Amino acid sequence: MTLLVRLRGQGPKYHQIYCSLRRDILEGRLRPGTRLPATRILAADLSVSRTTVVLAYRQLFVEGYITGRVGSGSFVAPTLPETMLSPPDRRPVGELTASETSSAKDKKRPSPLSAYGKQIVDVSPLPVPGQKKSHTALRYDFKIGQPAIEEFPHETWRRLVQRRVRSLSVLSLNYGDPRGYSPLRGAIAEYLDRARAVKCRPEQVVVVTGSQQALDLVTRILVDRGDKVALEDPHYQGARQIFLSHGASLIPIPVDKEGLRVDSLPKRRSETENLKMVYLTPSHQFPTGAVLPLSRRLALLGWAKKHDAFILEDDYDSEFRYGERPVESLQGLDREGRVIYVGTFSKVLYPALRIGYLVLPPSLLPSLTAAKWLTDRHTPSLEQEALADFVSRGHFERHLRRSRLRNASRRDALLESLEHHFGKDVKISGTRSGIHVLVELRTLRPSRLNALAQKAAKAGVGIYPITPYCINPPKKAAFLLGYASLSEKQIRDGIRRLAELMKKG
Ligand SMILES: Cc1ncc(COP(=O)(O)O)c(C=O)c1O
Repeated sequence: MTLLVRLRGQGPKYHQIYCSLRRDILEGRLRPGTRLPATRILAADLSVSRTTVVLAYRQLFVEGYITGRVGSGSFVAPTLPETMLSPPDRRPVGELTASETSSAKDKKRPSPLSAYGKQIVDVSPLPVPGQKKSHTALRYDFKIGQPAIEEFPHETWRRLVQRRVRSLSVLSLNYGDPRGYSPLRGAIAEYLDRARAVKCRPEQVVVVTGSQQALDLVTRILVDRGDKVALEDPHYQGARQIFLSHGASLIPIPVDKEGLRVDSLPKRRSETENLKMVYLTPSHQFPTGAVLPLSRRLALLGWAKKHDAFILEDDYDSEFRYGERPVESLQGLDREGRVIYVGTFSKVLYPALRIGYLVLPPSLLPSLTAAKWLTDRHTPSLEQEALADFVSRGHFERHLRRSRLRNASRRDALLESLEHHFGKDVKISGTRSGIHVLVELRTLRPSRLNALAQKAAKAGVGIYPITPYCINPPKKAAFLLGYASLSEKQIRDGIRRLAELMKKG
């Protein structure tokens, strides 16, 4: 027998011998039943002590790779499972290829996926991050929903997190309350009362892993397959995908310059049967930016009461308002316990923080808390604790004030540039709040929108057509421009470049 054992790699010599022999067995170079060299001979060949080889053989024996008795001959085990003997995957570490992740090659076998498993692949065309098309090449990326991450007070945050890490008690290493860290829930309730006229006790607040999880948990506890969910059209597509993933039947409700057309909500008994909830973004309609007036808010609450439906209020970016008093939240007007309020720290702090919150009518608390516990126990404690400090020490409101000023200047730069370069060719909406605007191009047919976005991307300008946010095809050519993460200069240069591009035709 050719001696295959080699001393290679790092670590104790016995371990190197063990690894070498194990690899030869698994890769089929040492067949089942093959006699291994005597320990004395192998030790001499490798210039190691016999004890070293004995230790390696003992390890292989314990793990079932070899049989026999040390001293009277060792043999490769005859009964290694077939699968263990196949050659290892030698491809380099990296993203899986499309053919590996697709089930196309298994067409003959029925899909192993559940209805939910199949549904999410169909409804969520967004690629997973590793496969995402990189926008790094875009010099002027008017990406929506992106706060000014570089301006986040990193140093303060680092200090608060470090302080919490240093003082970690045994208690905070254990499971926490599924509803979240109590001081944070208290701070959120207090802030929402002051800033958004949300009426709640801290007990009604549940901290979640981003508002995306809030939407998911609420849908799980309220919507059965086939139940109806009404939503704004256009709308936040992340919400639509969640409703569809749970088998909801969607009822798109048109949106005008005042937001959801409450008068278009279904009224007939046959239409409202099993209509579980209405999803909307009343304070800054996503994506048009319309603000739902009080009359419509009251009409909506009346409709929900009459038809026994819940209202899911997504208040994702209303912290940013320009020169106006914020409109009171729908939740603050609700006297019937019908409004479920969702908020997030993604737009005010940073998206990777993954902390959002729900304010629930008391009747839904037990079920939602159980859903949260089942899903992920609770949102990570350390970040919640640091965030509670960040809020209670005034850093949150300070950061908010600075962000508001900065975003207002960036918004002004955007509006001025659009006005300067496009004049009457564009109609801009959603300027009163939030961190993006909707731009309707009067001179373009909606069918040409994607081609324009592609052309703009090639020139380094990221603009985002409204189409993915609509169930019914949009009648106007409109795109979204996020501005919070770009400097005023970038904004002006980007819009100038876009205008030049369009002039060239
Ligand atoms: C309207 C709306 N709701 C919810 C979310 C999700 O936010 P989060 O990062 O908290 O999951 C977004 C994200 O862009 C959004 O635009």
